[in-house]
Amino acid sequence: MASNSTISTPSFPFLLLLILVVALLSGSGIVPTASGKELSIREATVLDLQLAFKSNQLTSRQLVEFYLKEIKRLNPVLNAVIEVNPDALAQADRADHERKAKVPHSLSNLHGIPILLKDNIATKDKLNTTAGSFALLGSVVPRDAGVVKRLRKFGAIILGKASLTEWSAFRSSNVANGWNARTGQGKNPYTLGNPCGSSSGSAISVAANLAAVTLGTDTDGSILCPSDFNSVVGIRPTVGLTSRAGVVPISPRQDTVGPICRTVTDAAYVLEAIAGIDARDNATIEASQYIPRGGYAQFLKIDGLRGKRLGLVRASVEFFLGNHTFQKNAFEKHLKTLRKKGAVLVGNLKLDLDKIYAEYDTEFAALEAEFKLSLNDYLKDLVVSPVRSLADAIAFNKKNPKLEKLEYGQDLFLLAQGTNGIGQKEKAALLTLETLSKTGFEKIMKENNLDAVVLPTSKFHHVLAVGGYPGVTVPAGYGKAGPFGILFGGLKGSEPKLIEIAYSFEQATKIRKPPPLKF
Ligand SMILES: *[C@@H]1O[C@H](CO)[C@@H](O)[C@H](O)[C@H]1NC(C)=O
Ligand SMILES: *[C@@H]1O[C@H](CO)[C@@H](O)[C@H](O)[C@H]1NC(C)=O
Ligand SMILES: *[C@@H]1O[C@H](CO)[C@@H](O)[C@H](O)[C@H]1NC(C)=O
Repeated sequence: MASNSTISTPSFPFLLLLILVVALLSGSGIVPTASGKELSIREATVLDLQLAFKSNQLTSRQLVEFYLKEIKRLNPVLNAVIEVNPDALAQADRADHERKAKVPHSLSNLHGIPILLKDNIATKDKLNTTAGSFALLGSVVPRDAGVVKRLRKFGAIILGKASLTEWSAFRSSNVANGWNARTGQGKNPYTLGNPCGSSSGSAISVAANLAAVTLGTDTDGSILCPSDFNSVVGIRPTVGLTSRAGVVPISPRQDTVGPICRTVTDAAYVLEAIAGIDARDNATIEASQYIPRGGYAQFLKIDGLRGKRLGLVRASVEFFLGNHTFQKNAFEKHLKTLRKKGAVLVGNLKLDLDKIYAEYDTEFAALEAEFKLSLNDYLKDLVVSPVRSLADAIAFNKKNPKLEKLEYGQDLFLLAQGTNGIGQKEKAALLTLETLSKTGFEKIMKENNLDAVVLPTSKFHHVLAVGGYPGVTVPAGYGKAGPFGILFGGLKGSEPKLIEIAYSFEQATKIRKPPPLKF
């Protein structure tokens, strides 16, 4: 195995990849600062990497070394990574060894691939799991999160933890997107501005090539919005499709763990690895009916748009984009592409967005009570922890006002602490949300026999979140204010269709460009 000299003597597929990436970078006027060796890894997909592994042109160790170097170089500005795994190189060596020995799981697509996890996803190793808060630093989790167990089984390398909006944006309504006490402000690699949240670090990292793939979590927009803002692909899976066991929670009704990646293909492979039944999350049992035999990769079809019925909520364009003319025009162009690729656009669907978005308070009434119950359960289950309850976490912030920047407040914590289980008010709120979904989104989907809806922005996430529905966002353009995506959403279990649609759109447009990172 000529692992050390391989990259300097690239063979055909790797050379092709190299040329492609260099062409891509120079095409956008970027002067590469790194060596050619590093450029070849930048923007590589999971399949590119597997191909390079298999033809002995790259080792997992070299790949991890590349990402560790890039994290060291870029993280001081981007604040996208909270901790790197001290065992990542050892895991890489093991993967390299297993590949040589041809152990069965080394054939998995994620084998030897470095992944960053949002810092609310528990790992039973040297990494902390803190949701960005010092209140959880030094806590010891009882076991790996359900999704982490699966990733390890497939041989993925846990590269580290990605930053996030602290407590997944459920501490305070005044905390900026992408801010947490442990790393400070995460930055959008395209604009150095707002990365959106709360899975900010995952989206920033994968956009800036600090990892091959990442995981985020989504309660209401936390995968879709940062993916949209950072020009990457995010899948918010149907609630229960992926286990939430071992994830610092907000709501068992809305929380879901999903991939944030540079391509639809990478995201499909990650989803395939993490979806499945976990005895520690009962919602995975019912949702397992949605997992297709043979996995998700079979839906990566170039003609995946052919014959798809896509709903268009015309009013959403004005509702969400106001006078963002550039983005509106881009959306109109994308609609033409969707049609050209064989999709049937069904419009003008009536969905009362004013009414749905006026019910944010209702959603919060439910979330506050659910958060207290489920966070207290999570904290009680820890082996060791500085805080054992939401009340302790509130007290911790008061005791450490500088460390935790208490000037940003903790209003959501306090509101949640004031709840007392699922009472009359919460039951009414839950009923309202359910009715909104059944008579709104679900109704238009079924009455029009739709495969998905298409939206010009991830801001539609609220409609999907309250009903536990899935969504996929794909890069759709670059405006003055930064990158933006296009969103496809569907009914529970519609991931196969969403992947077909998203992949076909991605391949027809190929919009994603890596961030310039000129600093
Ligand atoms: C986890 O936190 C402790 C402090 O409690 C720190 O010493 C340790 O380095 C952290 N782990 C990693 C992998 O950064
Ligand atoms: C899952 O459901 C079973 C049967 O209803 C119950 O005994 C168990 O406690 C549940 N597990 C969890 C983690 O909620
Ligand atoms: C259009 O944009 C301008 C400038 O950003 C803003 O001041 C104005 O309120 C916007 N108008 C509408 C109708 O959204």
